[in-house]
Amino acid sequence: MRLSVIGCGYLGAVHAACMAALGHEVVGIDVDAEKVAALSRGEAPFYEPGLPEVLTEAMASGRLRFSTDIADAAGSQVHFVCVGTPQKPGEYAADLTYVDASVDALVPHLSAGDLVVGKSTVPVGTAARLAATVSTAVPGAMLAWNPEFLREGFAVKDTLTPDRFVYGVPSGTDGETATGLMDAVYAEALATGTPRIVTDYATAELVKVAANSFLATKISFINAMAEVCEETGADVTQLADALGHDERIGRRFLNAGLGFGGGCLPKDIRAFMARAGELGADQAVGFLREVDAINSRRRTRMIDLAREVNEGTIRGKRIAVLGTTFKPNSDDVRDSPALDVAAGLARQGAHVVVTDPQGIANARRRHPELTYVETVAEAVTGADSVLLLTEWAEYRDLEPDDLAGLVATKTILDGRNALEPVRWRSAGWAYRALGRP
Ligand code: UDX
Repeated sequence: MRLSVIGCGYLGAVHAACMAALGHEVVGIDVDAEKVAALSRGEAPFYEPGLPEVLTEAMASGRLRFSTDIADAAGSQVHFVCVGTPQKPGEYAADLTYVDASVDALVPHLSAGDLVVGKSTVPVGTAARLAATVSTAVPGAMLAWNPEFLREGFAVKDTLTPDRFVYGVPSGTDGETATGLMDAVYAEALATGTPRIVTDYATAELVKVAANSFLATKISFINAMAEVCEETGADVTQLADALGHDERIGRRFLNAGLGFGGGCLPKDIRAFMARAGELGADQAVGFLREVDAINSRRRTRMIDLAREVNEGTIRGKRIAVLGTTFKPNSDDVRDSPALDVAAGLARQGAHVVVTDPQGIANARRRHPELTYVETVAEAVTGADSVLLLTEWAEYRDLEPDDLAGLVATKTILDGRNALEPVRWRSAGWAYRALGRP
């Protein structure tokens, strides 16, 4: 099929490359000329494991190209809208500028029978509004909402073999046509039995924000338990293991620590609160305010802990920070708990030396005041304490003895409960973590 993908960020670039890998003919469109140039050379503009390979292969097949000209979308049958919906500055609500602008720009190039498929995370009600824009401008063109659940770090796998498809479609024959077109696009994954839920626009939009709200709640739940553990001497990691054996609860997303960040969970729960407020359903999602508050407290608690182990003051202390990204296997520092803590420590007068396998360039753009180094050895040299804030595999595997000769004081704070306390303590380190004795 001929497809266009509007917006080539973390979502769109992966979607475009994967759709071409599946055999479709794809044009990826973005307003950022630099990004388009990089993608056209087969280079991923951000770090995502597996993407360079899929991209290179798709470019070589001749089925994938990139452009800054929205007119190049003309001739495609299905048009995926993959642009960002960031949080509005100073507000909880989502900023729909990019979604609205891309649909407005696309409409003049649509033909009757074309399907516009929204994948961006949007406030409930957006699809119905955009469907009217599309069908008024181009009679016979349709719109569907098909939320994306990909995780950074696993984006290629999640795109090629998602755990479910959700189609929000209009009622009647247009809905059937739209479903048929999306089924054709996703034929390969559907053939393997991937569940598919066909529903109305509002339900499809809500699935995405409800899923992210649930995940955020699960993380904040265990972090709330961590707070209680800290007051009682209990161990939140063992608590999580024990809870996780109950299949109704499950162990995944029960890792206590610095909490959630990234370009999705934080802004999606806030946008949900804002939208529910507009709809008069604010009470229903009032708990998300608490979920957000628990999440923020973890960052403050980490800074407090750093102060505690540095005899009450971090002013002038050298603190090594391992990790700046919001999670491992990503270079994304949007709302990153690790970077937030690093910046908070620096604001309180610490000399913060940060390292990360992939996130330094993005972190430096946001926080140029911090000192960045390439290696763990450079970061920890002379450190009064070492903070592990993003659980990259190479940090989990660190040998306490390798670091011992470099640091000024053998103190390690494990912000992700990623290390084995016994191993560090028996090597003579003071080990502290969130929610653990
Ligand atoms: C999330 C959703 O998982 C995905 O389905 C949606 O499409 C986009 O948002 P992503 O932002 O890539 O994906 O990250 P995710 O793996 O969900 O992690 C989010 C944050 O939660 C990270 O900062 C991570 O460190 C944190 N987290 C995750 C925890 O603190 N504890 C956990 O147990 C799991």
